[in-house]
Amino acid sequence: MIANSFYILIKCYQSILEYFNMSKQVVGSIFDYYHIRAMHSTIFNVCKMKKSLLILIPVIGIILYGGCTYDYDLTLDNQLKDALNTHSETGHYSAYILPASNDYAALPNQDPKNPVTAEKVALGKMLFFETGLGLEAKNPVSLRTYSCSSCHIPARAFTAGRFQGIADGAIGFGMSGEGRKINPLYTGDQVDAQGARPLTIINTAYVTNALWAGSFGSFNVNTGTESVWHQDTLIEINFKGLMGLEANNARALAVHRQVINEAVVDSLGYKDMFDAAFPDIPENERYNRITGSYALAAYFRTVLANEAPFQMWLKGNENALSDQQKRGAILFFGKAGCVHCHNSPSLNSDPHKFFALGVRNEFQNNNLVFRTDRYDNRNLGRGGFTGLYEDRHKFKVPQLYNLKDFGFYFHGASKTTVKQVVEYFNEAETENPDVPITQISTYFKPLHLTKDEISDLVEFLEEGLYDPNITRYAPDQVLSGYCFPDNDPVSQVDLGCK
Ligand code: HEC
Ligand code: HEC
Repeated sequence: MIANSFYILIKCYQSILEYFNMSKQVVGSIFDYYHIRAMHSTIFNVCKMKKSLLILIPVIGIILYGGCTYDYDLTLDNQLKDALNTHSETGHYSAYILPASNDYAALPNQDPKNPVTAEKVALGKMLFFETGLGLEAKNPVSLRTYSCSSCHIPARAFTAGRFQGIADGAIGFGMSGEGRKINPLYTGDQVDAQGARPLTIINTAYVTNALWAGSFGSFNVNTGTESVWHQDTLIEINFKGLMGLEANNARALAVHRQVINEAVVDSLGYKDMFDAAFPDIPENERYNRITGSYALAAYFRTVLANEAPFQMWLKGNENALSDQQKRGAILFFGKAGCVHCHNSPSLNSDPHKFFALGVRNEFQNNNLVFRTDRYDNRNLGRGGFTGLYEDRHKFKVPQLYNLKDFGFYFHGASKTTVKQVVEYFNEAETENPDVPITQISTYFKPLHLTKDEISDLVEFLEEGLYDPNITRYAPDQVLSGYCFPDNDPVSQVDLGCK
């Protein structure tokens, strides 16, 4: 009984210290430091006294019967809330809540030219999967066989299900993207494939500047980079004064060989949806890649992992996370330091930040990749866009929801499990000899996590941040009636369309 009370006393004392230590970090004030010292010496001296029992007994009495308010602070929930409050933009953990998908006014980073409406969302949700738009295939055999979602598959958390996405020029789907292979009628340099692993569409409401290099988007982190926007015809779209998603999607429709014009829209059955989505845009400007891009961007902003356990927990359901997930989250927002870079509702960086972690590029992993190699400028990340030496090898901090379904991690797909990623951060030894050590982030240093701590962190990432129902954002069918996300004969069989 006495031993037990003594234990509680020590715990309370510890938590008082922890509490002040935490506030010291927040406020950074010397005032708090003196509080700790004062508290420390008072309690320490009390404990040292020979007649300690005389003093301890009433103290213990107060703790036991008066109710130890600090006991409250000891729960995992409160430790996690404290950690979140410390790093939250507003000082309160609720800032990490993702909005409801239908609360359009609450969706962040909307383009003033393109406010989200239900009509645009409904249209974007179709266009993203519509294989009927695939009309600029390099070989007629692939016409109408691919879509945006060839590389952004809902069941793979809107990534490709393989280390590199391939749309035009490939056949097959497999279970969920892993079975996609180059069409033997294509050469490697004819296929539509990119220099990095696809980013997810999930939580792109928090993306102000698209791509690993942040190249698309006229504002936010690209303010001041105007001098490099003439570098190619794609980036030039930034001169149009668009947000990242609007700029990106318009270019993506062209890069990924898709056509939107009045005749196509009409033939596939989308004319009424375009009319409903863009009643204020004159008819001669209503059916093209820009309006298509607007609809896609509106849809993307609603694709939020807002049913993940961590989100439920933030909204007040303390049972939504297991104890292990809570311990993992406390590490993420504390000792493991992940929050230094991943700190926003989507756990990307806001405003966007770019870091070099020394991971391998696509061409360095012994995978059969197309249209990228050692000389690909995109291997330089942000530096490939800005041309600045200081930005070289630095990549955008990505969001962290639904990772479990990715199967490939980092921009070059050099890791295949979340555990490998966490171990990489824990060991902090770079794997790409081409990245000068001077570019590597100073946050990238050994974390000294124990095996159990690694498991806890992985559990939080894989399960706590996993929205189990993300496929709710995919349509049941597209208006053309074609198979999707892929529509070549092999995919039709794989996908059960035939
Ligand atoms: C061939 C595969 C492929 C296809 C098809 C494809 N994407 Fe992507 N997508 C990628 C890759 C790879 C990236 C990351 C590229 C990079 O950053 O260099 C990406 C990135 C993005 C991003 C940026 C997300 C972020 O966090 O910055 C958006 C938005 C996007 N794609 C939308 C689309 C749209 C819209 C379409 C259809 C018009 C499309 N994608 C078709 C492979 C593809
Ligand atoms: C220095 C800033 C920084 C810190 C600290 C950091 N990250 Fe990251 N993280 C990044 C960047 C930048 C990337 C993308 C790197 C790349 O692919 O080149 C990334 C990528 C990831 C990915 C892969 C996501 C994907 O789409 O492939 C995961 C998972 C991840 N981080 C988890 C963590 C965890 C867990 C921690 C803490 C142990 C952590 N990060 C700490 C900056 C950081």
